Amino acid sequence: MSGLFLTFEGPEGAGKSTQVKLLTEWLGQNGHPVTSTREPGGTELGQGIRQLVLHQSHMSPEAEYLLYSADRAEHLAKVIGPALQADKIVLCDRWLDSSLAYQGYGRGLDLQWLKDVARGAVQDVRPLRTFLFDLPPEVGLARFAGHDRLEREPLEFHHRVRAGYLELAKAEPERFVVLDATQTLEELQVTLRENLASLLSHPDSAA
Ligand code: TMP
Repeated sequence: MSGLFLTFEGPEGAGKSTQVKLLTEWLGQNGHPVTSTREPGGTELGQGIRQLVLHQSHMSPEAEYLLYSADRAEHLAKVIGPALQADKIVLCDRWLDSSLAYQGYGRGLDLQWLKDVARGAVQDVRPLRTFLFDLPPEVGLARFAGHDRLEREPLEFHHRVRAGYLELAKAEPERFVVLDATQTLEELQVTLRENLASLLSHPDSAA
């Protein structure tokens, strides 16, 4: 696949979705073919899965992870894969790192099992860059009223998720760009545009 696959990760209330929207507009205005999408829920099947995982009251952590994986496999087959084949820039709001952070570090599922399942679900597709919006959970959660199952988890859960994300970033510094998500919307957008401009002007780094 030859497009650019870029993912956006981070806790609740970090402002990822707004940034993805602004970047999509900017890339489009500059003549770049771009697709923006999100997980869970980037496909028709995924919309149903999103309802289930975020609003069903009880579910085992294993079942939860397998539902996210089903969403991801369908998303890759129907949206991400075709867009990359068409040489587009794909901006994806959450991907496998969300599962590693939330279901792995947050819920305590075995990371190796998560990765083994993921190998079947997403083959060797890997983002070229992952922008991690890092933010203290207290700040992010204060922006929400706790309207879904994960947002209602206790604060310690969200601290484990944040620490997990930072560990993932440390393990793959060439892929992750860690952003301080307490910055203003404008500051974050400037940093993201600089990063994208650099990626687009050095296509070799996309290898
Ligand atoms: P969103 O509101 O940013 O779209 O995220 C939906 C929620 O789903 C968020 O609380 C994180 C959670 N999530 C996981 O726990 N595991 C995953 O693999 C994904 C994609 C999302």
